[in-house]
Amino acid sequence: MGSMLSIFISLFLSDNLILIRENMTWNEALSYCREHHVDLVSITTELLQSWVTERAASATSSQVWVGLRFTCSFHFWFWIRSDAGCYQNWAPGNGSDSQQDCGIAGAVETTGRQQWVSLEENQRLNFICYKCSGDSGEGLIHL
Ligand SMILES: *[C@@H]1O[C@H](CO)[C@@H](O)[C@H](O)[C@H]1NC(C)=O
Ligand SMILES: *[C@@H]1O[C@H](CO)[C@@H](O)[C@H](O)[C@H]1NC(C)=O
Repeated sequence: MGSMLSIFISLFLSDNLILIRENMTWNEALSYCREHHVDLVSITTELLQSWVTERAASATSSQVWVGLRFTCSFHFWFWIRSDAGCYQNWAPGNGSDSQQDCGIAGAVETTGRQQWVSLEENQRLNFICYKCSGDSGEGLIHL
């Protein structure tokens, strides 16, 4: 039963992520996703990470932007479309443990261990959006 549920969820999720193979800054990517699809993807579960990993494999840049942002004033990382997840996949030296500057955002590596890394937000990368399934507006993922 559990595995059937996760297969169902996997199919559902896989249909709701799209890799945009254009190079944009984090803010441009955010606007693009919101204008043409739903939003930059927020990776709050291991399952979502696995679908992001699969999409990211066909990127042309060596990292892809996701909806992971650092707030300089309050000094923490957060997903733009979710409560803070328990799931974490930071590369060593990245994330909350490290000393952070302003003007950074989170990306996923497209090769190797495909962990989360912090990059200057004006770097230009491919990115992954949630997209709507049909016109129902039900593309948002709540796991
Ligand atoms: C995006 O950047 C990568 C790496 O710099 C490059 O190989 C690729 O051709 C670029 N893609 C586009 C659409 O400009
Ligand atoms: C973040 O992770 C990447 C990939 O593992 C690594 O190259 C980089 O040095 C790390 N950043 C810091 C500040 O350690």
